[in-house]
Amino acid sequence: MIFPIVVYGDPILRKKAEPITPDYPGLAEFLTDFWETMYVADGVGLAAPQVGRSIRIFVLDASAGADDDPSLKDFKKVFINPVMLETPGEDIVIEEGCLSLPEIREKITRPDTVRIRYQDENFEVHEETFSGFAARIIQHEYDHLEGKMFIDYLSPLRRKLMKNRLMNISKGKVTPKYKIRVPV
Ligand code: NI
Repeated sequence: MIFPIVVYGDPILRKKAEPITPDYPGLAEFLTDFWETMYVADGVGLAAPQVGRSIRIFVLDASAGADDDPSLKDFKKVFINPVMLETPGEDIVIEEGCLSLPEIREKITRPDTVRIRYQDENFEVHEETFSGFAARIIQHEYDHLEGKMFIDYLSPLRRKLMKNRLMNISKGKVTPKYKIRVPV
């Protein structure tokens, strides 16, 4: 099943998501549908609140970055109950988009490296360091679990200039190639 993507203006995107346990009902099926939803929407990452579930899960497929970084060739991971441990390294600027903010792309500054603890789909604990493209998606998706979106990093002026576009998104006046769920 493909989930519709929750867009800007829905309060679920501003809530801190809850941790889950291995007995979370229908988890395996949810993950299958979740991956499918991400691929159908041409995303490189997706966080559970974006499909209307306020739980601490995100997925990412960073293989699109393999041209610049061959180590990303098969980079496909599920992050359950992630905890950001540190973000060492320099700040870098990369343009970001978000399936919950159709048609908006902005240059965002974030650290180049993250150290994160998370559980995989078998609830095994990992502690790993990521840099570059993968680190960027991880930070973006992790923010979704904290109720944050990339536009929060923009200057007040930039936000103001974007106000009408954001309002249009929240009213469903956008036409992305994927199905969206407009806030009521
Ligand atoms: Ni996003």
